[in-house]
Amino acid sequence: MGGLSYGQSEYWDRRYTEQQELHYEWFPEAIEKMIAVVKGQKPGPLLELGCGSSVLAVRLFQDTACRPILAVDISQAAIQKCKSSAPRASELTFTTMDCCNLEVPDNSWDFVIDKGTMDAVDCADKTAAMVREVARVLRPGGHFLMASCREPLQRTAQLQQFFTMKDFTEMWGSNNQRTPCPDVYMYHFVPKEADPGP
Ligand SMILES: C[S@@+](CC[C@H](N)C(=O)[O-])C[C@H]1O[C@@H](n2cnc3c(N)ncnc32)[C@H](O)[C@@H]1O
Repeated sequence: MGGLSYGQSEYWDRRYTEQQELHYEWFPEAIEKMIAVVKGQKPGPLLELGCGSSVLAVRLFQDTACRPILAVDISQAAIQKCKSSAPRASELTFTTMDCCNLEVPDNSWDFVIDKGTMDAVDCADKTAAMVREVARVLRPGGHFLMASCREPLQRTAQLQQFFTMKDFTEMWGSNNQRTPCPDVYMYHFVPKEADPGP
């Protein structure tokens, strides 16, 4: 798209503005898996990073007891699409925000959800800033769920300072396992225990 890359907000704004449909879904096969993992935990406040025009935040609101749910994206056009289609509810909000500079307090979320966003942030070379922000805002004992096309060795290396990988699932999506490599991985990370010191 005119020399723009996934790492630039201009790319996403243009893409969501030109997109005719209200919703476009990256890694749709991750939706039910993410909902199932969230439902298996004690409910709490949930933050989705880079929601785009996905239905995931609405599905999490409808299918889980997590409250409040805040979904953010760097693209104003994406947030407009979400606001125009989501049910009106005080505990489900959408706002424009940079996930590498989150305007939310420390230790304020039990769940942080990312479906394809760190993959985009990788293209801006801001992955380390995003990882630091997730570690800052996630409560001890919280859960960071991510769907990503990056393979486990690479992702765990980027996150190992703050997180332990609890689980990961390979997903072949539309390829139906005909290819030698999965299209997408779903990761479940938990914060590392704070070192109590000597
Ligand atoms: C691959 S798309 C995934 C969108 C959505 N989560 C989905 O699954 O359909 C990546 C999303 O990350 C958003 N994004 C990119 N950089 C961001 C940043 N620094 N802060 C917040 N969102 C960002 C883009 O606007 C885009 O909506």
